[in-house]
Amino acid sequence: MQEFDRKAHWQNVYEHKEVTEVSWFQAKSALSLELIANSHLEPSAPIIDVGGGASVLVDQLLDQGYTNLTVLDISGAALAKSAKRLGEKAGAVNWLESDVTAFSPDSQVALWHDRAVFHFLTDAAERQRYVGALKKTLRLGGHLIIAAFAIGGPEKCSGLPIVQYDAAKLIAELGPEFRLLEERIEEHITPAQRVQKFAYFRFERIVENEIY
Ligand SMILES: C[S@@+](CC[C@H](N)C(=O)[O-])C[C@H]1O[C@@H](n2cnc3c(N)ncnc32)[C@H](O)[C@@H]1O
Repeated sequence: MQEFDRKAHWQNVYEHKEVTEVSWFQAKSALSLELIANSHLEPSAPIIDVGGGASVLVDQLLDQGYTNLTVLDISGAALAKSAKRLGEKAGAVNWLESDVTAFSPDSQVALWHDRAVFHFLTDAAERQRYVGALKKTLRLGGHLIIAAFAIGGPEKCSGLPIVQYDAAKLIAELGPEFRLLEERIEEHITPAQRVQKFAYFRFERIVENEIY
């Protein structure tokens, strides 16, 4: 059987679909912004949006005065769409074309945001690599926001199988170095007017990971 080419899948999505017609499109990242505000960061705090795609979260964070923003995505086409939308402001953002499961940071961040990316990792070894990258990247006392399809939500996203999460299941993946601070449910309305049940989690990194 041919191995799934994740990068090709996402490049194809962003090269052939309008960003406003993909099921995960949001005109405003309201709940993400609320949870980021609840993290009480300095405007200069480093923030990474993992699998940020063509999301407008980065635009809204720039508008709110955050100055140290990175958007990472496996699809260069997605990042190019965001950069084009931002125009001159794109120069203020660090764009990283990378698979998060193979990501190794140059420096640490104060906040890691992931909406609808971790849930694609159906293989335990991939999830371990993601958590390894997260632990290398997020500093002690930093905040982690993960949004995934909730239990009872959709079973696929972008035609791919996903894993649904509740707090207990996510905590089991992340391990004891993360303390859950907030959990929220969002009924996301897709451009096709379907309801998708998302669960959002905000954690604090509480234990230094000494061995990488
Ligand atoms: C469902 S979309 C969500 C996009 C964005 N977070 C949002 O909320 O609009 C999933 C995104 O994750 C990216 N992605 C999927 N697997 C990835 C991986 N292993 N590493 C980095 N990005 C990935 C895709 O290219 C896509 O942009």
